[in-house]
Amino acid sequence: MSLKSTIDLNNLPEHVAIVMDGNGRWAKKQGKLRVFGHQNGVKSVRNVTEAAAEIGVKYLTLYAFSTENWNRPKLEITALMELLVSTIKKETATLMKNNIRLAAIGDLNSLPAKCQNELLTAIEETKNNTRMTLVLALSYSSKWDITNAVKQISQKVKEGILDVNQINDNTITEHLSTSAIPNPELMIRTSGEYRISNFLLWELAYSELYFTETFWPDFSKEEFYAAIVDFQKRERRFGKTSEQLKAK
Ligand code: IPE
Ligand code: IPE
Ligand code: MG
Repeated sequence: MSLKSTIDLNNLPEHVAIVMDGNGRWAKKQGKLRVFGHQNGVKSVRNVTEAAAEIGVKYLTLYAFSTENWNRPKLEITALMELLVSTIKKETATLMKNNIRLAAIGDLNSLPAKCQNELLTAIEETKNNTRMTLVLALSYSSKWDITNAVKQISQKVKEGILDVNQINDNTITEHLSTSAIPNPELMIRTSGEYRISNFLLWELAYSELYFTETFWPDFSKEEFYAAIVDFQKRERRFGKTSEQLKAK
């Protein structure tokens, strides 16, 4: 029996964020090049996007390339960028068919021109889709995003548009690249690494974290459902006591 039928549709995370990790080790395990792992990771992206949309998740953010990933061997970076272009090209029709909107966060200007073009074309083409928003984090790091927010806020203070005493946590939220997206209730990381790796530091402040040993290319719809079911067993207290939550 699929775990899908055990999911409580009234208690779904509105936003799920995923650190798709383990492509390289997955490939190495079978004596293949790292790129082979990235190629096989695409199928998991497709499966999880479909699974999320089917159950009614509204936002799915996938960490596809970090600021720090620019430090990888040039050959791997090139392969990843090419894979990005070909995948977007190939999948836009499916996004349209499934009524899924594509969005991106990160320093998109640092991507090769061809990537930027494909990405912006797909974002434009899918912009009126309403079932789910698929957010790709590309050349993204949370410290980069927060630094940008601080710069924008400082500029406004300098110009007298904003009073220092008016700055609160909403001010920061509004200046992040994720400003139009609700915070993820659930963050999943694959491949048995227990870290955040500069992903959504501000936005994950109160997220439930789910870690699995599975390498990303093996991450299936069923595992995604397992993460949702696990999430639904958690008591989200936001600083309160369990008794307080039960009293209401
Ligand atoms: C995640 O898999 C994909 C990217 C970071 C682009 P990795 O490439 O990090 O795979 P491992 O962690 O080396 O196995
Ligand atoms: C995080 O994975 C970034 C992405 C999944 C795109 P990494 O594999 O780059 O993370 P670290 O450096 O091992 O923490
Ligand atoms: Mg990794």
